[in-house]
Formats: sequence, structure tokens, C-alpha cells
Amino acid sequence: MSADTTEHNRNRQDFSGIESIWLFGYGSLIYKVDFPYLEKRPASIQGWARRFWQGSHDHRGTPEAPGRVVTLIEQPGAKCKGMAFRVSPKVFEHLDVREKNGYLRFTTTLTFDNGSHGEGLVYIATEDNEAFLGEAPDADIARQIASAVGPSGPNSEYLLRLAESLRALGDECTHTFAIESCLKKAPEEDL
Ligand code: BEZ
Repeated sequence: MSADTTEHNRNRQDFSGIESIWLFGYGSLIYKVDFPYLEKRPASIQGWARRFWQGSHDHRGTPEAPGRVVTLIEQPGAKCKGMAFRVSPKVFEHLDVREKNGYLRFTTTLTFDNGSHGEGLVYIATEDNEAFLGEAPDADIARQIASAVGPSGPNSEYLLRLAESLRALGDECTHTFAIESCLKKAPEEDL
């Protein structure tokens, strides 16, 4: 699948008659809230793990030197914590462009922190998109993140802001924190 998913997403869900819908954020949507929302609630989704396995050519890297950003990987028993936003479907006109580098909107079940459930949408970059990079050792991921910069800024800023936001949410994302610790341990040239 081509890395630009804008058109794919426009045709994915029918929003006719829908005034608002939950959107689950597990990456930059947690800390970069540049869209209007009606309500926000900490939430999680089951069976999915956050991984720095997606390439970023347009925000935190370039086509020549892509950065790494998060996607979700299916993993039985896993739980991904994040933030749910109740938004107007109009918000997707903006977010589908912002998150166009390989991400598709999927329907998912959200679990709110009070134990109640809701249905919502989540952006996931699947393995078949051109920008997918896949698994690598934590130190290699940290090295790539340390050196990548794109139009939205340094890739390291993305990682550090996400790690900080996950801590504030009380998440224990060992994957994110391990990469953060590799990044903080050594200057770029020693990674
Ligand atoms: C998120 O924060 O949920 C998100 C991450 C990557 C792309 C789109 C959304």
C-alpha cells in the first residue's frame, strides 16, 4: 500500500448522521492536540502493543533519513494506554492529512479508566505500508531517533514528549521507556 493514506481514509468509515465519535490516541495525539474535541478521557485498548516500528518521512525525518514513530502491533494479552477524545467527524479532515504517512483508521473497543467501554477509531500503520520499518534492537531504534530531524522537529523530541506523557498517564510502556533510556544514556555518537 502507498504510504499516503489520505484518500484511503476518506473512504473508510461512513460518518453520515454521526455528531461525535471517540478517537483513541496512543502517540503524538496524546501531547499534540491541534484539533478541537468535546471531551477527553484516559483509556486503553486491549490486544495491541505500542511499537516504534513506523518510519516517519514527513514529520520526524525525511525520505533520505526517516525517523521512527509509533504504531500498534497486535499482541494477545497486551494493553495500550492512551487518551480518548470525543470529536466531530470533521476533525478527520485535518488528522487524515496530518497522519497520512501509512496510517489507516480502524474501529476498536476502548476501555475507559472507570471500566466502561465505548467504540472508537484509532490510527494504525500496518506492516504492508511502504513506510513500515519493523522491529529492531532498542539501541538501534534510539540511534535512528537521535539522528533524525524532520519538518515537525527532532525525532528525539517526539520520543521524550511521548515518554513524559505516558508517565503522566501512569502507563508502563517498557518498549518506549527502554528506547528513552538508551537515548538518554549516551550522546548521539556513542549510541
Ligand atoms: C496516535 O497518537 O494515536 C497516533 C499515532 C500515530 C499516527 C496517528 C495517531
